[in-house]
Amino acid sequence: MFSPEGPTLLELTVQAMSSTERGYDLLAPKFDRTPFRTPDRVLDAFAAVVEPLGPFVRGLDVCTGTGAGAGVLRRLGAGEVVGVDFSAGMLAEARAAYADAGAPPTRWVRADTLALPFAPAFDLAVSFGAFGHFLPAERPALFAQVFRSLRPGGYFAFPIPAPPPVGSRGYWALWGFDAVMRVRNALWRPRFVMYYRTFRLPDVRADLERAGFTVATAALEELGRRPDGSPRARAVLARRP
Ligand SMILES: C[S@@+](CC[C@H](N)C(=O)[O-])C[C@H]1O[C@@H](n2cnc3c(N)ncnc32)[C@H](O)[C@@H]1O
Repeated sequence: MFSPEGPTLLELTVQAMSSTERGYDLLAPKFDRTPFRTPDRVLDAFAAVVEPLGPFVRGLDVCTGTGAGAGVLRRLGAGEVVGVDFSAGMLAEARAAYADAGAPPTRWVRADTLALPFAPAFDLAVSFGAFGHFLPAERPALFAQVFRSLRPGGYFAFPIPAPPPVGSRGYWALWGFDAVMRVRNALWRPRFVMYYRTFRLPDVRADLERAGFTVATAALEELGRRPDGSPRARAVLARRP
């Protein structure tokens, strides 16, 4: 699947029938050869929007995987970078990928994002490509955990794509994927939580505000605009007052 070096269909199936954590442990060695790794053009567009909010001293990449967001934090000039994820396999890949990256050293912490083990010290927390792994009911706890890991004035920033127009191919593809996952999770344990259509900006904004954040958004102009003129993706910039 995806490329000759990427996971096979059989491997992806075995991963999808595992728990979320175990699935990522299995996928880890080939993760960077899948489209699930956040593409560099998204990371670049995001970094361009977030950079003016700096300088940043301490950065946290939430659900870091193989470290895509940790790389952004380093580029934004953070002197201390921490990547947190619950998959030991993904963290091992991140550690190997950044072994030669020089200063600042990146610290890789294995923890569940719903129980982050940090003092309120970070200026900037980022997260890429992971919110589909949290049920809407878990969002208040997730946002509360990030909130209490930030220093006052710190930002929680992440990209969010515009939903595909209702009835488009993209719309039906995501709808179909979520439907298959719902059936899978109704019939099979352990659950693999991954849904594309549950992380909608109006709900997310309301949950962030309930967690205490002040929320702004900014278009990721480098990713272009849709035919109706709206941005293809935005950065959510949530600030701990
Ligand atoms: C699609 S990958 C994204 C990785 C990386 N951020 C990127 O953009 O390439 C999702 C990551 O979220 C992690 N994850 C999912 N749920 C988690 C949780 N509750 N606590 C910590 N990590 C979690 C997975 O282990 C996986 O590494």
